[in-house]
Amino acid sequence: MGKKIALITGLAAFLALLSQVGVFAKDEGGETTYRFDPATQSSRALEYKNTMAGYKLYRSNCKSCHFRGNDKGAKFLDTEARTMRGWNMVFYKKNVRCAKDGLWAKLSPEDLLLINDYLYSKAYDTWDPRSNKSCG
Ligand code: HEC
Repeated sequence: MGKKIALITGLAAFLALLSQVGVFAKDEGGETTYRFDPATQSSRALEYKNTMAGYKLYRSNCKSCHFRGNDKGAKFLDTEARTMRGWNMVFYKKNVRCAKDGLWAKLSPEDLLLINDYLYSKAYDTWDPRSNKSCG
C-alpha cells in the first residue's frame, strides 16, 4: 500500500515536472487556431509571430490612449473588453469613436489585421488555462 502511494506521488511529481518544461504546452507554436476575418473574408492563423506583432502595434497605437487613468477621454481597454466576435466587429465596422475620428488613419490595413488577431486571441470568451474565468 505504502509503495503504491509512493509510486503515485512520484508519478504526479513527474507529470508536474513535464508540464513545467512544456511537454504538454500547446500554445505558442503547438496547435494553431484561426480567426475568420469578415473584412477580408479570409482565415488568419493565430500564430505567435502574428499575435506578438499585433500586441506591439496595440501597445503603441491603442494602449497609448486607452490606458488606465489617461487624460484623453478614452476608456481603459484590455483584450477582455470584447468577445472574439465583438473585436472582429470593431475592426470590420470601425464604428468606435476614435476610428471614426480618423485616429486609426496612420495604421495600415495589415497593421489593423494584426491588432485584431491579437485582441481576438485574448478576447473575453477565449479560454485561458492560467485564469479562473471559466470557473464561473
Ligand atoms: C488618440 C487616442 C486614441 C487612440 C490612439 C485610440 N483610441 Fe480608441 N477611443 C479613444 C476615445 C477618446 C474613445 C471614445 C471614448 C471611449 O469610449 O473610450 C475611443 C473609443 C474606443 C472604443 C470603444 C470603447 C468601448 O468600450 O465602447 C474602442 C473599442 C476603441 N476605442 C479601440 C481602439 C483601438 C483598437 C485602437 C487602436 C487601433 C484605439 N482605440 C486607438 C481614443 C483613442
